[in-house]
Amino acid sequence: MQNLEKLLKKSIKSFGFLSVKDFFNIVLHHESFGYYRKNNILGKKGDFTTSPEISQVFGEVLCNSILLNSKLIEGYRNVSYIELGPGKGSLAEDILRTLKKLNHTLFLNIKNIYFLEKSEIFYSHLKKLFSSVNIIDDIEKIPNSYNIIFANEFFDALPVSQYVFTKQRWREVLITLNKKEEFIFSLSRKPTKINYCFPNNPSENYIFEYSEYMINLLESICQKVSQYGGIFFIIDYARNNKKNESSLSAIKNHKKVDVFHELGNCDVSHSPDFDLIKKICKNNNCRIFGPFSQSLFLQNYGINERIEFLIDKNPKLKNQLLLQKNRLIGEKYMGNIFKVLIITDNNNYKFL
Ligand SMILES: C[S@@+](CC[C@H](N)C(=O)[O-])C[C@H]1O[C@@H](n2cnc3c(N)ncnc32)[C@H](O)[C@@H]1O
Repeated sequence: MQNLEKLLKKSIKSFGFLSVKDFFNIVLHHESFGYYRKNNILGKKGDFTTSPEISQVFGEVLCNSILLNSKLIEGYRNVSYIELGPGKGSLAEDILRTLKKLNHTLFLNIKNIYFLEKSEIFYSHLKKLFSSVNIIDDIEKIPNSYNIIFANEFFDALPVSQYVFTKQRWREVLITLNKKEEFIFSLSRKPTKINYCFPNNPSENYIFEYSEYMINLLESICQKVSQYGGIFFIIDYARNNKKNESSLSAIKNHKKVDVFHELGNCDVSHSPDFDLIKKICKNNNCRIFGPFSQSLFLQNYGINERIEFLIDKNPKLKNQLLLQKNRLIGEKYMGNIFKVLIITDNNNYKFL
């Protein structure tokens, strides 16, 4: 039996259960055996590939949507670029390179780069890649400046608690052991005390997923954005709230596996609830644009033209570039399931 499995079973035997959030927090971030301690999780040779790792065009096109609003931003002399869970830093490289080339004034106004990154492996990688960067572990450390913030596949990596609405009450989903000592999901007997985040009038067996960490993080960012100005892009899998099912999933070597499979060796994630994110941001005095499908957003800001331009410059790469485009915007790939949500201060931004 693997170390992490032993450790989690011991903990469940002592306490009777673990919450879904605590269980997956240990699976992802345990100081010795957690998934984010593994090398090479991201990319072709790893377990999953994200949009910035598929193509530089992803960041370049996202940057266009900022450039088209640059009149509103250029007036700020102190701008920070912030990324949540930047991983290998590819998105930051692509966005900052594009900004430097296409709007040098705005680029020069970027005085600081902040990365919120928990993995020590990515931390060392980012320190080597960026000569001057602040890598933080607490969102409260982001500055009181105009902030351009990106979170690509960050929210899906945050462990969530789960609650089921049954017989007019919310009950927390817990992880326990069956007689064969296998992990199973069970329901708490005690009803849960709810807060404003829980949906109103849910249907029977509706599953609600959230974490207090995520709420606090969003509230903190929105307060900075509304007070000091900013644009915050969230790009992620979106939970389909019409489906009454858990959105937890696990992946290893680019294939879906059971969420209890080889704990600490597989990436476990959930699909963020964009309705909930919108609710929190609106509550904190920010404007919301979207969510738009990744396909619509990237096409609107020029992915087709950019790919054609790159093919013209290097015709030998035609098939590779078209393949990359298809992975980013194809309906069967990331085009529809990934959504782009933009949160801004109350200025007159325009998106789509
Ligand atoms: C799925 S990866 C996405 C990486 C990158 N954004 C990309 O698109 O390639 C999730 C990232 O979030 C980081 N992460 C997960 N939980 C975190 C937390 N609580 N605080 C800071 N970073 C976290 C991971 O270390 C990793 O860099």
